[in-house]
Amino acid sequence: MIYLKTPEDMRGMQVACDLVSRTLGEVARWIAPGVTTNKLDSIAREFIHDNGGRPACLGYGGFPATLCIEVNETVVHGFPSNYTLRDGDIIGIDTVTEIGGFNGDSCYTFAVGEIDPEVRRLLVTTKESLYKGIEAAKPGARIGDIANAVQTYCEKRGYTVVREMCGHGIGRKMHEDPEVPNYGRRGIGPMLKNGMCICIEPMINMGSRNIVIERDGWTCRTKDRKPSAHFEHTLGIYDDQTHILTTFDYIKEALGDRFI
Ligand code: MF3
Ligand code: CO
Repeated sequence: MIYLKTPEDMRGMQVACDLVSRTLGEVARWIAPGVTTNKLDSIAREFIHDNGGRPACLGYGGFPATLCIEVNETVVHGFPSNYTLRDGDIIGIDTVTEIGGFNGDSCYTFAVGEIDPEVRRLLVTTKESLYKGIEAAKPGARIGDIANAVQTYCEKRGYTVVREMCGHGIGRKMHEDPEVPNYGRRGIGPMLKNGMCICIEPMINMGSRNIVIERDGWTCRTKDRKPSAHFEHTLGIYDDQTHILTTFDYIKEALGDRFI
């Protein structure tokens, strides 16, 4: 069941989304060769607490950390560890913050130092596909329109779409209906309307679309170990318009001319 948000709920969602956006901006300042992903996790956890929020991933279904860490071939749901970032890595940071009873969810894939131009193109395309999905997410459109926009954009450029994981509704709970896949047919699925909040989160691979879940039960990686990218925004539909509630502006501010 899709929970529609009142205008007051929507303001609560905006607060939660501001916090998650600022959290990613803070983490962005620390991403560099030589930094461990555990360090990034503690930066984020402290930042969220200092700002009156709760790291919603921590303890969610047993997930052990504040951040989902996605280095190179990791698609989603990786754990922070003592792994030290290296020049040429990419790292997706996906997290959810809860404040005032609402959740904000966002993800950004960062370059560590200098990355291969082909990997850079994967990041650029995945981010662009998120905005293609957002453009398709107009009130009156259907979930399938978003899915198809993302899929078409990425596949035309030679990439593949992970199918086992998808975006989702969000609100008082991190995951609400509807599911928001990144592949599928136009014109199908629930219709978008005022009061809905959804997360669009393309997970796009350089090689095949196949994935493997590691023995920890969480870490999802590409089967062929080629790189995967992931970007996510939370959207709110109100006043007959689609609003992007999260922002990458804090990341842009943190990275300056290194922003992709
Ligand atoms: N954006 C991720 C998702 O929607 C956040 C997962 S948090 C976790 O799946 F706790 F489930 F890992
Ligand atoms: Co999400």
